[in-house]
Amino acid sequence: MEHALDITLTVNGTQVSRRVQPRQHLVDFLRDELGLTGSHTGCEHGVCGACTVRVDGEIVRGCLMLAVQANGCRVETVEGLSDSGELASLQRSFHERNALQCGFCTPGMLMAAQDLVRQKKKLTRDEIRTHISGNYCRCTGYQAIVDAIEEVVNGQS
Ligand code: FES
Ligand code: FES
Repeated sequence: MEHALDITLTVNGTQVSRRVQPRQHLVDFLRDELGLTGSHTGCEHGVCGACTVRVDGEIVRGCLMLAVQANGCRVETVEGLSDSGELASLQRSFHERNALQCGFCTPGMLMAAQDLVRQKKKLTRDEIRTHISGNYCRCTGYQAIVDAIEEVVNGQS
């Protein structure tokens, strides 16, 4: 029997403390313990990007990081970025360009795309494709997703 561990972290600006099993993954902690189900679990081994969250400012795969590794960290999820308005431009662009169908990949895709937006650099479509190459979409064929990201990334002054 593994010993549970106490962790304290900041999630979307709020400090939370919980007792967790050492093998619980961060994405499962966010979903099951905190009810933040916007981060999805797909492959659960670091391939599909559905679980993408931000930890101390960097995007990470929530299925590859343990909850205990996030102890003391600042975690941001798609809910937090959406509530703060940080994702507003991308959300509008995805909506206008029909850059989602089933929507399963969308939270992770938005998190990865926002990482590009924050860099405030003009990018080619190839550069955008490379950046989101770790985020799988089974529905759209990616064209509309790249269009939506390109509009926001290259439309910034
Ligand atoms: S569920 Fe984490 S990368 Fe697929
Ligand atoms: S919209 Fe269905 S997986 Fe991307």
